[in-house]
Amino acid sequence: MLTEDQNRRLTEVGAGTPMGELLRRYWMPIAAVAELDDKPTKPVRLMGEDLVLYKDRSGNYGLVDRHCPHRRADLSYGWVEDCGLRCHYHGWLWEHTGRCLQQPFEETAHPEARFKDKVRIKAYAVEAKAGLLWAYLGPPPAPLVPTWEPFTWINGFVQIVFSEVPCNWFQCQENSIDPVHFEWLHSNWSRALNGAGADRSPAHLKVGFEEFEYGFTYRRILEGQSEQDELWTVGRCCLWPNCLFTGGHFEWRVPIDDANMLSVGWFFDRVPNEMEPYRQDRIPYWYSPIKDALTDRWITSPVMNQDFVAWVGQGTVADRTQEHLGESDRGVILMRKRILEDAESVMRGGEPKGVMRDPEKNRCVRLPIIGRDFFVNGSSRVETETSRQRTPGLLLRKDFPFLTGQPEEVRAAYRRAMGLPETGVDARSPAS
Ligand code: FES
Ligand SMILES: [Fe+2]
Repeated sequence: MLTEDQNRRLTEVGAGTPMGELLRRYWMPIAAVAELDDKPTKPVRLMGEDLVLYKDRSGNYGLVDRHCPHRRADLSYGWVEDCGLRCHYHGWLWEHTGRCLQQPFEETAHPEARFKDKVRIKAYAVEAKAGLLWAYLGPPPAPLVPTWEPFTWINGFVQIVFSEVPCNWFQCQENSIDPVHFEWLHSNWSRALNGAGADRSPAHLKVGFEEFEYGFTYRRILEGQSEQDELWTVGRCCLWPNCLFTGGHFEWRVPIDDANMLSVGWFFDRVPNEMEPYRQDRIPYWYSPIKDALTDRWITSPVMNQDFVAWVGQGTVADRTQEHLGESDRGVILMRKRILEDAESVMRGGEPKGVMRDPEKNRCVRLPIIGRDFFVNGSSRVETETSRQRTPGLLLRKDFPFLTGQPEEVRAAYRRAMGLPETGVDARSPAS
């Protein structure tokens, strides 16, 4: 059980708060590269700051204050030019570095005053990697955006999925080090929802947690498994400070503010050997709804929606002064302790865990990965269709099991990549 003060320190993300300062030492994924290609401006709220992300016609990415420093118009209604974002109210032009490039009437009335050199807009660094756009809100020098090992894999179909979840980010991240929930929230609840009778899925017999350079691993033994199984010998990762990595996918819990979280999923599906070489020209992205419009209740399947139901159910900010923690929460306790220590060290000027600054190391950052050989080398179609090595399910998935609302064109592109028959009508064939 935590004190109110500890609960506040774990959950507040504003600038100047211990956790807010810790989080500002890391790059946060905030959009898809393809998203800005579709529409060059995007309003973004990140760690309580209202911003606008844009891509100008020279390809520069900018992340600037949502409000124009002139008279505070909303710059997400501005337009991009060859260089910079122009305010729609009086035409001041802002560069991604924060410089003001033009103030049309001021330059006509008082060219000698060079007023534009005296105003700046708040501007943050943006980088593209793995089909995502990453933002850094911390002090210079900015670290490197980590090149996690799966970002270097080839012959895979990648998709990026966003969901907005109306609760604090930290209760979502606690889920990244909670192996036992899988048995209940996913396996047994799905059975109950499907009316599957009294049978239960295999129970957890043992769990283990280890800290490593980039976070913690969690390991488990389920009924019917042994200490030789990779779920025990390798495990899965709670990545520092706000990510879950399962081997085939990442889930970042990006704080929008104290009361809202942007879930950013990055999913890799290896194509069967028969479909190689496979090259993806554009990584698709989509937004997944979390509420059923008809019933006004949370969507209760698939897998990640079940997680969302648990997190929002804990309240906007989980009240950790009212908990009763047990042995299954050992990982959660470890992580809370470690991250609070890290946040305090940042307040004293220290560098927190796992910040990437070494370009050599960052060519490819290896992580614990169950079934690495399959992701790297793939396997034949028959093997892929029958082997079970992932959570959830088979190596070759027919459908997307994590979130609801996958657009038909993404589903069709996936099936083409995998060499699966295109069931259903895809009106937007690649030729049209
Ligand atoms: S408010 Fe933006 S130019 Fe005037
Ligand atoms: Fe889960």
